Amino acid sequence: MITLTNVYRTYKTKRGKIDALSDINLAIDAGEFVVIQGPSGSGKTTLLWILGAMLRPSSGRVLIDDRDLYRLGIAERNRFRAQEVGFVFQASHLLAYLSLRENVRLGQLNQANPDATDRLLARLGLAERAEHRPGELSVGEQQRAALARALIKGPKLILADEPTGNLDPRNATEVLNILVEYHHEGGTVFLVTHGRDTQNLPGRTIQLHAGRLVEV
Ligand SMILES: Nc1ncnc2c1ncn2[C@@H]1O[C@H](COP(=O)(O)OP(=O)(O)O)[C@@H](O)[C@H]1O
Ligand SMILES: [Mg+2]
Repeated sequence: MITLTNVYRTYKTKRGKIDALSDINLAIDAGEFVVIQGPSGSGKTTLLWILGAMLRPSSGRVLIDDRDLYRLGIAERNRFRAQEVGFVFQASHLLAYLSLRENVRLGQLNQANPDATDRLLARLGLAERAEHRPGELSVGEQQRAALARALIKGPKLILADEPTGNLDPRNATEVLNILVEYHHEGGTVFLVTHGRDTQNLPGRTIQLHAGRLVEV
């Protein structure tokens, strides 16, 4: 489904060049659960942005289902990002003045199907909270709502950047369980974390050290 070949990413700064990613080679099959583990600054977010069609590699190729992501036209790349990828970050980034239901509907492609939002909120234990604004919810509930916003479009791929970073262990487990459930239904998950609490996750764990992948 996704193949990265000889991917490099350099950032140019006033104080010189930073090699954030060096010679990344990785193939991910549809339906896989891939965990990338690495310390802060190892290049995790850079890798995720490249996969999410948000950041062009300095060199190398990213193939998605045989499409060369960074050789597609802008419209096609936008379509991929909007329709095929769900994003979850460390903070939920919900809009403060919208209810949970309205926040989740921001991610919905088929607006003609409002029931889907409520079904998903119910499944994630948020039915009672649909009318509430994010500020009225716990951080764990907010993060589950952010997952709902990512899942509502039925993406092929979920990209998760330290999604449990702000959560206590119980809420972290709930969030991870939602991702595992999505994976069991055939979804592809790409999760990056600096944490070590990933032993119970399905699939592969790959280490990222100073911009280089080490499979374990
Ligand atoms: N926009 C940027 N400009 C300059 N350097 C950056 C930028 N983004 C990230 N970096 C640098 O690239 C390296 C990898 O960063 P990042 O991908 O955010 O790592 P991680 O998510 O693992 O913490 C770090 O050294 C970071 O300082
Ligand atoms: Mg990061």
